[in-house]
Amino acid sequence: MKKFEYDIDFVRDQFPACKLEVGGAPIAYLDGPGGTQLPQRVLDRIMKYMVEQNANEGGNFKASEFCDIVEDGAREACADFLGCGPDEIGFNCSSTQNNSNFSHAFARQMKEGDEILTNELEHRCNIAPWLQLQKDGHIVKVAKLNTETQQLDFDDFKSKLNKNTKLVSLNWASNGLGTVTDVKKLIKMAHEVGAITVVDAVHYAAHFPIDVKDIDTDILICSAYKWFGPHVGVIYMKKELIEKFDFYNVMCEDIATGPRKFHMGTPQYELQAGVIEAINFIASVGEKYVDCFEDKLKGLSGRRKNIVAGMEAFDAYESDLAKQLRVGLREIPGVHVNGPAEGQPRTPTVVFTVDGFTTDEVTKVLGERGINAWHGDYYAVEIMNAMGLLDKGGMARLGLAPYCTQSDIDRALNAIRSMVRGK
Ligand SMILES: Cc1ncc(COP(=O)(O)O)c(C=O)c1O
Repeated sequence: MKKFEYDIDFVRDQFPACKLEVGGAPIAYLDGPGGTQLPQRVLDRIMKYMVEQNANEGGNFKASEFCDIVEDGAREACADFLGCGPDEIGFNCSSTQNNSNFSHAFARQMKEGDEILTNELEHRCNIAPWLQLQKDGHIVKVAKLNTETQQLDFDDFKSKLNKNTKLVSLNWASNGLGTVTDVKKLIKMAHEVGAITVVDAVHYAAHFPIDVKDIDTDILICSAYKWFGPHVGVIYMKKELIEKFDFYNVMCEDIATGPRKFHMGTPQYELQAGVIEAINFIASVGEKYVDCFEDKLKGLSGRRKNIVAGMEAFDAYESDLAKQLRVGLREIPGVHVNGPAEGQPRTPTVVFTVDGFTTDEVTKVLGERGINAWHGDYYAVEIMNAMGLLDKGGMARLGLAPYCTQSDIDRALNAIRSMVRGK
């Protein structure tokens, strides 16, 4: 197997945003968990659609034909990205919209005594739709976050799962802590009691390859703007399940069949075109590294193989930098790094607080130096609540993306060091 050496210049050269500067230094995009930058090829593809192919579907002219071509292409690209069939993929504006839409379809099938099990690690996207159903009189249970390990409280989850549970919502990776949950194990447990599963992979999909058939989830949601694409929500649902649910849409039987049942109106064709190119970008990086990850690519071919290699390359590069960031932060007096213990599965997203400073102040200091970072709860409200941080400004968050550099990390650490020293 070839030794892995990440070509950061090859990646950065493709992102026009990486050429922008603040105060003479390139912007450090450590806000990746909130959304990534876009490669030129994605921008070009969106522009091409808008200029040369802009139309609605169903017309007897060339531009109209492109709508179907783009939509089919986006479905095929996402199928390669997630490891499923193109007829199992749907699109809307966001993951929250996809999940909310699905929750209405699910609610129509609920019977008295049916239960939903969600948990405190969720972004609001995969808990709010279910808590909304609680307001309508349905039974919704919430498995706890273990605030010590900062992982899902497995015993609590197990005690709340029973034969009445009809749906289990699961967070694959937390945007509020970086914790990665063993969803495959929990999906198996959910299936054993006859429940279906909805996995929120919005944060996970930005850092690791996904194989929906391997984890066997019924539904999975993710958002292209977290992995170099535009603002499009992608939903995977097992083919046999799509037919079982009655989604809110334009209700035209001829149009709203198969995965088009997910669409609430005219799809964002130009953004779907961007999604294709975002996935092609990942594959183009992966193509350079297939020889470095042979053991992880067995049985794969074509674009899927390159995508998986690309995600493995991103993971290898980002996790090393993230570890340096965590180690560096822990060395600064008064900085408290949260998230699971070293060695536990996690994303390259680092959350922390600093004694004597609000998280708002911390990210302002970083922002002034051209370092983009987040503060607050990032809609991981239940996590912040469980940790007693909701009314205290939540946490500061620095997240790695494949175009981030060693210098970005050094600059962030220096900024926090001098902030603490100058107190
Ligand atoms: C883990 C997680 N789930 C869901 C979402 C919401 O995704 P969307 O903005 O596409 O609704 C986010 C957005 O930050 C997220 O990080």
